[in-house]
Amino acid sequence: MERWLIDTDPGVDDALAIMMAHRLPGISVCALTLAAGNVGIDHTTANALKLLDILNVDTPVHVGAPVPLVRSANDAAFVHGLDGFGDIGYTPSKRFAEAEHAVQAMIRLARLHAGELNMIMLGPLTNLALALCLEPALPNLVKRLVIMGGAVTGHGNTERLPAEFNTGFDVEAAHIVFSRWPRFDLVDWEATLAHGVPIAELDGWLSADTDEARFYRAISRKTRTWMSRERNPTHWVAADALAMAAALRPESARDWQERALRVELDGALTRGATVVDWSGRMGWPVNARILMRYDQAGFGDTIRTALGANTTPG
Ligand code: BDR
Ligand code: CA
Repeated sequence: MERWLIDTDPGVDDALAIMMAHRLPGISVCALTLAAGNVGIDHTTANALKLLDILNVDTPVHVGAPVPLVRSANDAAFVHGLDGFGDIGYTPSKRFAEAEHAVQAMIRLARLHAGELNMIMLGPLTNLALALCLEPALPNLVKRLVIMGGAVTGHGNTERLPAEFNTGFDVEAAHIVFSRWPRFDLVDWEATLAHGVPIAELDGWLSADTDEARFYRAISRKTRTWMSRERNPTHWVAADALAMAAALRPESARDWQERALRVELDGALTRGATVVDWSGRMGWPVNARILMRYDQAGFGDTIRTALGANTTPG
C-alpha cells in the first residue's frame, strides 16, 4: 500500500481528488490536513468531514492554519460557492476533526513513516511551510511531494495576472517550500488547462448511480456552470484531480520537465508568479519536476473510478 497525506482546502476539485485517493486501489490515506484557501478554514473542515461521510471512511482530519503567513488574500468562493461545496445546503457531518494541529500531524506522520510517506498539497502551502520551519529535515523523511500550484507559463488564474490561486494565496509559504524542498513534483494551472475533460463525458460519469457521483454532481453544479460560461464551454478542468492522478498513477504521465522554479514575492505586477528557468541559464538548483503532459484517457479513468462510474483502471 502506498501511504499518502493529503493537504487540502476543499473545494470542489479537491473533493474529486480526495475521492480518487480513497477509491483507487493500493492507496492508503493516512490523514487529511486542512488549509484555508478556496474558502475559510471552518468551511474547508466541514466539507472534508462531510466528504468522509459520503466515502464512508474514517480518515483522520487535522485542522491547519486559518490565514496565510504574512499577507491576507482573497478566497475563491466565487468559483466553489460561499461554503466551498456549491452551497447545496448539505446536512453537516456529525464527525469531529482531531485535536492535533495539521502541522504537528504532518511532522508526526513523516517521522512515524520515515521514508514511506508521500504528501500531496492541493491548497495554499501554509501548513507545509510551517512544518518545514518546525522540522527542517522534513524533505529527508518524505518519500515524494506533489504540489498542485503555480502557472509555469504565466497565464495564472487570479486577479494578479501571472499568479495561480494556491501559490498566490500564500506567496511567502510558497517561497519557503520552493526554496527549502530540494525536489518536488509540480502540477500547475497550465497543465490543468491542457487536460480538460469533455463535458459530455463528464456528464455521463456524473449520472452514475453511486453516492459519490450524486454528491459530486450536486456540489459541482455551480462551478460547472460558472466554468462553462467563464472559461471553456466544451471542457471541464479540475486542477486538484489532475494533480492527484499524477501523484497516484505517475505511469500515465507522458512528459515531465525538470527545472529550477522560484516564486516572485515582491513584483508590482507579478507577486505570486512562478518563475521557471527554462533554459537553465541562472545556475539555480533544479527543484521541480513539472508535469507537461498526462495521458488523457488515464486521467478519465481515475475520475470514473473516483465516482464509481466504471470498472477499476489497471
Ligand atoms: C487551485 O486553486 C483552487 O481554487 C483549486 O482548488 C486548486 O487547488 C487551482 O488554481
Ligand atoms: Ca484546492
